[in-house]
Amino acid sequence: MSALLPRIVIRLLAPRKTAYDPNMTYSRYAIEDTLIDDLIAGYRPNYSLEQPFYFSPEIFEEEFIHLFSRQWQFTDHISRIPHKGDYFLFKIAGEEIIVVRGDGNTVYAHFNVCRHRGSRICLASEGHVKQMTCPYHAWSYRIDGSLSHARAMSEDIDRSKLSLRSCQVRVFEGLIFINLTPEGTGLIPDFDTIVEPLRPWLAQADLRHTKIAHVEEFRSKANWKAAHENYFECYHCPGAHPEWMKAQLHALRDALGTKSAIEKFEKRNRVWEEKARKLGHMVGNLNNSSDHSDAENYCTQMVFAERMLVNVDAKDLYNSLTPDGAKMPTKLLGTYKEDDEGQVDWGIGPSGFGYTTCTATAILRITPRGPVDTDQVVTWLVHEDAKEGIDYDVESLSWLHSATIGQDRKIAEDNQAGMSSRAYEPGPYTELESAIPEINKDYIRALAYGRALRVNANR
Ligand code: FES
Ligand SMILES: [Fe+2]
Repeated sequence: MSALLPRIVIRLLAPRKTAYDPNMTYSRYAIEDTLIDDLIAGYRPNYSLEQPFYFSPEIFEEEFIHLFSRQWQFTDHISRIPHKGDYFLFKIAGEEIIVVRGDGNTVYAHFNVCRHRGSRICLASEGHVKQMTCPYHAWSYRIDGSLSHARAMSEDIDRSKLSLRSCQVRVFEGLIFINLTPEGTGLIPDFDTIVEPLRPWLAQADLRHTKIAHVEEFRSKANWKAAHENYFECYHCPGAHPEWMKAQLHALRDALGTKSAIEKFEKRNRVWEEKARKLGHMVGNLNNSSDHSDAENYCTQMVFAERMLVNVDAKDLYNSLTPDGAKMPTKLLGTYKEDDEGQVDWGIGPSGFGYTTCTATAILRITPRGPVDTDQVVTWLVHEDAKEGIDYDVESLSWLHSATIGQDRKIAEDNQAGMSSRAYEPGPYTELESAIPEINKDYIRALAYGRALRVNANR
């Protein structure tokens, strides 16, 4: 009671707004619920979002309810938990999920919250367990989450009702996705419908038979949308990413975007496409339908893929994105017949984005931890039989994406700092950032849809 009182007083003393005012600084006090509706209604297409979307705890909570807890979230590659009992913790928006390998190919995901009095159960960020035992009073749970032992608990208590709360899990091409909404409850998008169009684009690399060669974690003091929006444009690349500009032919199109730069990219890419086609390798774009089911309207998930030539100048940089142009790694992935110098640029938004060459994959995971706290984790995969020091070395393998995501973290933090200023107001996107308004439109639609559902449910 005494802890609540100051918060109530602060709320009462805080200026009460009847409509969102862009000249106010909303970080000073909690946002009224009706203001969120005003912000949604006031969304301006082709402009960055209003300030509160980038740091408000209230909007972050709305995002949790309507987006994070209903979307399929990429967590990690299956090779991280190869044996029964191997686990890692996945952290999202204040929640911890134990992702644990069961029998065979089964993977479970449980909230790391004891059903006795709520303690964390697994304390290490990864490890191996026979059972999951709570450190507080030693309740034990089987790998599938069911309660196996609760010392001195009355026989009257139904133990079958005390299993860990579990998430839904799907493994797609070796990539583990979870959904925080339990099976059979709530409106969530159908996983297979979302990812199946992407399968042919990843199948040739057969990511199921890869292993993690390297991981780098970049935790940003930025809202997840600052990181996410940044991923979807290369307008910033010429100033921010010297390595990327050198290594990626498509930067001509996506970062420069002039007529002559686009023609240069397309001319070289067309020649490459002929060669890749002859090898039976995918080329071109995934044209994904934009028809939305109700669940997709609500939770907004999307996939994309494009397979294209990697490098700007084959004399300087070979196809494998290494600093000196060496072929690295050397073991071909999946069914690729030869290293054709191509790559798939793919994503399962909003949490997993990859670049897959014929010999390696770099996957970026963007996960919101808090309103101004975002994980950007890059995981590099190579063939499961590739040997470090012989088939690849980590420095060469990670060179490009390590440099680029490190630079992007700084960009996101600088962007966040400016967006939190009293002087910030939404600015217009350029043609080179045209993917972002599309994403923002979906985001606003999902929030509006979810809030309307909740209002209707409360009637
Ligand atoms: S809180 Fe876990 S056993 Fe008591
Ligand atoms: Fe970038």
